[in-house]
Amino acid sequence: MSATPQATEWPPIVERIESVRQEVAQARRANRTIGFVPTMGALHAGHAALIQRARKECGYVVVSIFVNPTQFGPQEDFARYPRTLAADRKLCAEEGADLIFAPSVEEMYPPPYRTFVEVTELDQVLCGASRPKHFRGVCTVVLKLLQIVQPDVVYFGEKDYQQARIIRQMIHDLNVPVHMEVVPTVREADGLACSSRNSYLTAAQRQVAPRIYQALLELRQRVREGEREVARLETQLREALSAIPEARVDYAHIVDADTLQPLEQVDRPAIAAVAVFLGTTRLIDNIRLN
Ligand code: PAJ
Repeated sequence: MSATPQATEWPPIVERIESVRQEVAQARRANRTIGFVPTMGALHAGHAALIQRARKECGYVVVSIFVNPTQFGPQEDFARYPRTLAADRKLCAEEGADLIFAPSVEEMYPPPYRTFVEVTELDQVLCGASRPKHFRGVCTVVLKLLQIVQPDVVYFGEKDYQQARIIRQMIHDLNVPVHMEVVPTVREADGLACSSRNSYLTAAQRQVAPRIYQALLELRQRVREGEREVARLETQLREALSAIPEARVDYAHIVDADTLQPLEQVDRPAIAAVAVFLGTTRLIDNIRLN
């Protein structure tokens, strides 16, 4: 029998910081541009789009898979977050990733761990208001991952608009020598934004979930027809979202696309951002309004 490597044995999975540094150093010696896609795994078409972009633009593509405990609140889904490493490896192979970095919690946060990164102001609104310390955990792990991988280009998704905005600020403020790219939101055929958390939805919830994006599209349509008054627009948006069976609106806001601060009028680049619980599952989405 020949020892032909199976598709599932590629790409290599490394768990140690030392190993990922060695692999990346070797790629760099071969003059390959390093592209990096940080994820928490349970990979789907949204992650695939990021890996595809990295594959197209870089000579060597690293994907990290790490369910980062510091970005979950005590009552949140850290313990039951989906962990699907074998399927994730298959997707990485299909999209042509070169290396998976999948560290343990101990590898990333050996005790005593004491250093955290905070981006002020931008982390007080939207998801930051309902998830205290969430973005502090995100920034901390992303900066650590950037220090470990030292990529030329790092890729994030627009699906997590606030996260991308905050990380851009961190990279700028801390002079992190990396170029950041943001990839448009990938959606299911019915409009629902792809998310690892969609797997939590019951069949009934999954059926009505596309109404979140429909509400955002209707909102954008009203803006296009000339409505500029944020108070009226937000009320309509909230009503449309609340009408979804099993839905509870966490927030529904129209904010300045750059500062994420509330607006009274849609008179500059703005986004509508929403977080909606369907049952116990919290889904987020956003849309550019102009
Ligand atoms: P995760 O939710 O796994 O997402 C990893 C990356 O994929 C993020 O940049 C996210 O914005 C992007 N992404 C997720 N769904 C997407 C979609 N439908 N379309 C386009 N991009 C999408 O975000 C995280 O992990 C974590 O907070 C992380 C940055 C890895 C830090 O732990």
